[in-house]
Amino acid sequence: MGVKKTIASVVGVVAVVGLGFVGYKTWHNSHQTYTFQAPASTGMTGKTAIERGQYLAQAGDCVACHTAPGGKPFAGGLGLATPFGTIYATNITPDKDTGIGGWTDQQFMDAVRNGKGIHGENLYPAMPYNVYAKVSDQDLKDLKAYLDSVPAVHYDGPKTNLPFPYNIRLMMFGWNLLFLDTAPFKADPKQSDEWNRGAYLVEGLGHCTSCHTPKNLLGADDFGVHLQGAQLEGWLAPEITGNKRQGVGAWSNEELVDYLKTGANDKTVAAGPMAEAVHNSLQHMNKQDLTAMAVYLKSLPGSKDETQTLVNSQDVMARGKDIYLSNCAACHQSNGEGVRSMVPALKGNNALQASEPTNVLHVLMVGAQGAATDSNPTSAAMPEFGWKLTDQQMADVSTYVRNSWGNSAPEVTADQAAAARKLLSGDAALHNPATK
Ligand code: HEC
Ligand code: HEC
Ligand code: HEC
Repeated sequence: MGVKKTIASVVGVVAVVGLGFVGYKTWHNSHQTYTFQAPASTGMTGKTAIERGQYLAQAGDCVACHTAPGGKPFAGGLGLATPFGTIYATNITPDKDTGIGGWTDQQFMDAVRNGKGIHGENLYPAMPYNVYAKVSDQDLKDLKAYLDSVPAVHYDGPKTNLPFPYNIRLMMFGWNLLFLDTAPFKADPKQSDEWNRGAYLVEGLGHCTSCHTPKNLLGADDFGVHLQGAQLEGWLAPEITGNKRQGVGAWSNEELVDYLKTGANDKTVAAGPMAEAVHNSLQHMNKQDLTAMAVYLKSLPGSKDETQTLVNSQDVMARGKDIYLSNCAACHQSNGEGVRSMVPALKGNNALQASEPTNVLHVLMVGAQGAATDSNPTSAAMPEFGWKLTDQQMADVSTYVRNSWGNSAPEVTADQAAAARKLLSGDAALHNPATK
């Protein structure tokens, strides 16, 4: 649930009032057809359209949003919280009355790629059509063939009913004009086929940018800092460019593939929204495609690597070390190296060294559960410490792990810990033990 909430509020619903000609442009775009050939996927030869479509639906993680908790797959009904109210994902099973049964390929492509509903209405960008815009005709036809093959579910979920003025779907015309780039994916002839396949997946169906790219004030991706890390609600989706310290530049292709396929490698373990992305989507992708994504990500220019000056007082480190040895070292080891594929290493952990301590505070407050995948069905869990450690202790131990074993990152303050506690305070265990 957390993940969908996050995406939706990150993407936001933006009130940019549409002008007449803006509407015309969007309408016009929605009738484009794309003729380009998507960079080929290996391992797909001999597969039927439905099999290819299933794979693509997994790559796009359609099920994550289009399934309510405990509901039938793709039948919709999940509410995505946005600052403007709840937006419900719809039924995309082939039911004729409540789903997308009977839609033409063109109507389906207009919705997924252009945010255009079957009655010509604009969809809210909580549906990530702005990234799916890069997906080819053939891939979307295959995806539809697959959706047409899943059991039709007659289910009319709750209706989105945002307060005025956000209920005026016409306003999305303006948003689309500013931020919807309907240009099809263009392969770069200077790069290898593998790189282009990776780019097509990362920038298209994979919608990695929904979480990993910071948003501008209007809730759209800020391409100046593409994939350089973004704050979600209470999580940091770290930088995943070729930057060696804060990004994944120092990871081997194999380490990246392991992480995406299993949610763990010898460097780290995926938690929170990323664990869900691995579980629903990435674990199903073949090694060639995951390798292509790794090659592409590592080629991306990263953020400037600031040398960080850090901890002013050795007292903080000494206090942090005490807390670490009595609460953490049993699992993460006193040398910070963790246990391979089970307990992440904190030594050399790049997400841990991000400028903002969002993720370390998040896992400390509420704990974390790794991704359960077919290859690793019983994932280990990180216990929660929100009930046990005060804001100051949280800050000290965070500072310690961010600055030991060769790590370096800015000192964490008790105020930052208090803010994280407040943000995550839906959970009763988060009551600061200092104020009990
Ligand atoms: C991050 C959440 C999210 C993901 C991922 C997502 N969708 Fe959606 N989708 C939505 C929401 C929310 C709506 C409804 C938007 C609205 O009401 O304006 C929607 C609407 C749609 C519609 C229009 C249905 C209608 O009745 O108008 C189609 C078709 C669709 N999605 C297909 C897909 C496909 C195919 C995928 C995977 C490639 C996908 N979606 C992935 C959130 C998502
Ligand atoms: C729903 C939001 C979301 C989506 C979509 C998403 N990620 Fe993530 N990703 C995260 C979060 C949050 C983390 C941090 C997880 C943690 O701290 O354990 C993360 C972590 C990662 C990491 C580990 C980075 C590090 O330094 O530890 C990699 C690599 C990664 N994501 C790649 C991807 C790729 C590739 C895609 C697209 C195919 C993707 N992610 C899509 C939210 C997301
Ligand atoms: C019972 C074993 C255990 C204990 C005790 C424990 N951890 Fe963890 N920790 C884990 C596991 C397992 C994960 C991976 C969970 C996940 O990401 O899904 C983890 C994840 C983390 C992460 C996120 C790493 C990443 O790459 O995303 C940090 C930071 C962390 N722990 C710090 C601590 C600190 C600090 C303490 C002590 C206050 C502590 N842990 C105590 C098992 C433990």
